[in-house]
Amino acid sequence: MTQSRRDLFRHAGAWLATVQALTSAPTHPGPANEDYWRMVKRQFPLNDNLIYLNAANVCPASRGVLDRHLEFLRDFQANPSFQNRLKYEPMAERARAKAAALLNVDKEEIALTRNTSESTNTIVNGLDLKAGDEIVITSHNHPSNNDSWKVRARRHGLIVKEAAVPIPAQSRQQLIDSIAQLVTPKTRVITITHCTNTTGNLYPAKEIAAIARQQGIWFHLDGAQTLGALNVNLRDIDCDSYAGSAHKWLMGPLEAGLLYVRAARVPQVWPHVVTAGWSDKVAGARKFEVFGQRDNPRIVAMEAALDFLQLIGMEHVDARLRALVAHTKEQLRDMPGVQLKTSLDPALSGGVVKLTLKNKPLKPAYDALYERHRISIALTPAGDAAGLRISPHIYNTIDEMDRTVAAIKEIAS
Ligand SMILES: Cc1ncc(COP(=O)(O)O)c(C=O)c1O
Repeated sequence: MTQSRRDLFRHAGAWLATVQALTSAPTHPGPANEDYWRMVKRQFPLNDNLIYLNAANVCPASRGVLDRHLEFLRDFQANPSFQNRLKYEPMAERARAKAAALLNVDKEEIALTRNTSESTNTIVNGLDLKAGDEIVITSHNHPSNNDSWKVRARRHGLIVKEAAVPIPAQSRQQLIDSIAQLVTPKTRVITITHCTNTTGNLYPAKEIAAIARQQGIWFHLDGAQTLGALNVNLRDIDCDSYAGSAHKWLMGPLEAGLLYVRAARVPQVWPHVVTAGWSDKVAGARKFEVFGQRDNPRIVAMEAALDFLQLIGMEHVDARLRALVAHTKEQLRDMPGVQLKTSLDPALSGGVVKLTLKNKPLKPAYDALYERHRISIALTPAGDAAGLRISPHIYNTIDEMDRTVAAIKEIAS
């Protein structure tokens, strides 16, 4: 057994039970192996009568991760001495290294932040830009990567260009062109959402990164809907920065996240919080995480969430999520009264599914799903992304997806 595997077993309680369940599972995590995924589901504290399909917003942490978080919360409160807290620094370094491994980058390129919003805002406010510089965003960027740029533009005279978003995307080239056509010699930043929370478009990040790179343009990727959902290889994508949250698909603690910044680009970003512990000598992306006193147990929980994913294998998580989504979309595609706003093509979509109802108002449908069927999803009440958003994760079963499809059929007809 390797040292890192031995470390996983060091703890008692629910964490140990989770590790044992995942390491001694008699079956393999193939995407269609319901026995395996039912075992995974049992690791989560979700209510029995709830079908939870809102991973794009917040995911539950598994019992083991929760247990590890509580264990260290108690430890911290029981002995807040400097001496006891010394151990948290190497633990944060382990979390950093595991996050880096998940994304195939170097640990010096990872900052442990508080969420995607903060990570993206570090880039928005940290780059040296001058009046007249152009920033390319999309109309479906999350406000943290859309309104934030517009606020900075007002302060510094930047020009924000907003790419239109096809619903659903018809081809990778269409998505690439929607960005490329806005690029001019004055473009300094391209900043998009890897997989949108609005209609689930998966942007061809690698191709867009190549366009940016050829022209020395900073390319930022909002990874809120891909970190922990899809098998993301940032070295392959070759973006300059990437932001994500632990409390979404990573199934970690609330208000924890990360920011990746390519090593060569770190000196080009100003930190947005400077306090005790900051200096020009802080190595690598760590300079973006000096926020004053940290919630150390939360970072331990983030490490546990990364361990949990690693015990299953990110490639298996990705394949299972795609299988759940494909199964669901296949049944919704021709359902009377339903219109899918998400592509059926796995090259153009990830874990987010958006649908609208042709003849029924959305809000009563959303309410009925929760009140009559105990199905928790998200509602976009208006705008071009209006609709019902379904976002399953590895704690969902095919049976739950079928029950959701049946409930939508009943409501839509
Ligand atoms: C694409 C995208 N970016 C950013 C965020 C913000 O995430 P957080 O609230 O964790 O900062 C979200 C939240 O839903 C999102 O969907």
